Amino acid sequence: MAKLDILEFPDPRLKTVASEVKSFDIHLKTLIEDMLETMYSAPGIGLAATQVNVHERLLVLDISEDQSCPRVYVNPEVLSESGEQDCEEGCLSVPGIYARVKRAESVIVKAQDPTGIFFEEQLENLHAVCIQHEIDHLNGRLFVDYLSPLKRNMVRRKLEKQRKVAAQDAEEHRLI
Ligand code: NI
Repeated sequence: MAKLDILEFPDPRLKTVASEVKSFDIHLKTLIEDMLETMYSAPGIGLAATQVNVHERLLVLDISEDQSCPRVYVNPEVLSESGEQDCEEGCLSVPGIYARVKRAESVIVKAQDPTGIFFEEQLENLHAVCIQHEIDHLNGRLFVDYLSPLKRNMVRRKLEKQRKVAAQDAEEHRLI
């Protein structure tokens, strides 16, 4: 298994619309393992292939407290949604930024498992937020895209500042 690099906002590659997964082969299996490792070590509760610069319709989730419930969705599609919730979201591609986003409270999703078998599932609350957020990634959309342009610019500047501080720290300290 290998940990993959995560693209960060405003990297234009995060705007790519992912294409359908057609081969359920060893390449897909390895990618899924690497994405789970990357998500767990971040640590995060969801990761879309787009975020690791692979533009295929694949995402992984695990909302358990102890990283014990990995879930894999290949070619996920929302069939129906109901209700509304307003949850504070963060994203591994937008580190250190949190904002409230309106989402459906419950969604019915159709997807394929790593072997290509179709399944349908109803997801609710945090699980529903998470899959809607990850499917957005596959469509080139970030949670900060729901914010006003003014707020999004504030996010961009805050991230630039964070990166500068991190770069300075790295220069001042020699890491082993
Ligand atoms: Ni995200």
